[in-house]
Amino acid sequence: MLAVAVLAAGKGTRMRSDLPKVLQPIAGTTLVERVLRSCQTLAPNRQLLIIGHQAKRVQEALAHLPELEFVLQHPQQGTGHAVQQLLQPLEGFQGQLLVLNGDVPLLRPETLEQLVERHRQSKAAVTLLTARLSDPSGYGRVFAEDHGLVNSIIEHRDCTPEQQLNNLTNAGIYCFDWQSLEKILPNLRADNDQGELYLTDTVAMLHPAIHIEVANVDETNGINDRIQLAQCENVLQEQLRKYWMAKGVSFIDPTSCTLSEGTEFGTDVLVEPQCHFRGINQIAHGCRIGPGCLVENSSLGERVEVLYSVLRDAVVERDCVIGPFAQLRAKAHLQAECRIGNFVEVKNSKLDKGVKANHLSYLGDADIGSSVNIGAGTITANYDGIRKHRTIIGSNSKTGANSVLVAPIILGTGVTVAAGSTLTKNVPSGALALGRARQMVKENWNGPRPLNDQA
Ligand code: UD1
Ligand code: CA
Repeated sequence: MLAVAVLAAGKGTRMRSDLPKVLQPIAGTTLVERVLRSCQTLAPNRQLLIIGHQAKRVQEALAHLPELEFVLQHPQQGTGHAVQQLLQPLEGFQGQLLVLNGDVPLLRPETLEQLVERHRQSKAAVTLLTARLSDPSGYGRVFAEDHGLVNSIIEHRDCTPEQQLNNLTNAGIYCFDWQSLEKILPNLRADNDQGELYLTDTVAMLHPAIHIEVANVDETNGINDRIQLAQCENVLQEQLRKYWMAKGVSFIDPTSCTLSEGTEFGTDVLVEPQCHFRGINQIAHGCRIGPGCLVENSSLGERVEVLYSVLRDAVVERDCVIGPFAQLRAKAHLQAECRIGNFVEVKNSKLDKGVKANHLSYLGDADIGSSVNIGAGTITANYDGIRKHRTIIGSNSKTGANSVLVAPIILGTGVTVAAGSTLTKNVPSGALALGRARQMVKENWNGPRPLNDQA
């Protein structure tokens, strides 16, 4: 049996943030969710999360993970005190307990598998993950013998200057034999610089204690401040870009672009500089994105081109051309071969095949038939101050420049709307609709006279 416990009760003082450290965002998710995800291939029988600082907020943010058992630590008196909170929920449990700090987001599942495997083979009381760092400052130092037996862990701040020279560090990831651990957990003492109960002190009380050294030291980076958070984000972004380049995506200036783990690309996609992908996206074969785009929770069909535009919650089918300077949001759905030009916003609207809206328009809550041409400056007036209403335009219609369509309104197929019209009533198929003041011309108009003439 395997239980996993993630320590997430600390405040994360060094972040200087209202947000609990474990909820800090990274590559489109949170620190703690990445840690939890790294354990999934181990198929643990129990998953426990120790919460404390802003416990309610952490619990709410993770409510979508039904397997997770929340264990409250209050007040927070150190990592050893955090694990003491498991004595009750894990009473009678037999097997291994894998403990992870909640702030190590780069861990690979393979590394955890090795740790658990080594622990099971060696029958040690505890096996911990260590890293040999060129700059070990801040980390607990692991004092071990050449053959891998660990004697003790001493926190950086409790080390003598000589002990500080030891660069073998504690990664904060441990595999314990639970029955051995539960016997000695109550014996922890707070005789250290911070006056806390340290989980690391259990290592000197358990026999045998062994360690395995991680090959890639980046993996065990613990995130304590925003500099480390940014460095970690960089490592992840680099991994994501390399992964997609290997799968057939071209980046003109890779480091200027950011990706999310939920973004999937087809082959022969070209990503130009300064493009950002967030959330869950599908970008199909042959798309050309950028420069200068934000794409979030959207799906793009083959050969879509997007230039200097923002797409959020949008579906764009094949061969559409978007931008420059367009915004598609909140359930914009474009069928194939649509053309959305500069300063056009599309929201909660369905545009059938071949619709063109090339300049300066707002299309909100609209259903627009195939091959409709939306004239420059056409606005769907969808909001009456209380409710939103739909605009329906039949196929092959065209709206003149600066038309306002006051919803709810239905235009049939093949309708022509005269430029400058404000329409409030439905228009039958094939009609021309005008809704504007008739032009007047006053001939020989002298214009206004100067003031002193007027007496
Ligand atoms: C800890 C280790 C250190 C190791 C380092 C690796 C101890 C005493 N030290 O130090 O040896 O090198 O991690 O990154 O364990 N937490 C709680 N309750 C508490 C305190 C902390 O749940 O009362 C949680 C935090 O939310 C965090 C984790 O435990 O996720 C680690 O705490 P942190 O304060 O970051 O420990 P470090 O000082 O980094
Ligand atoms: Ca830490």
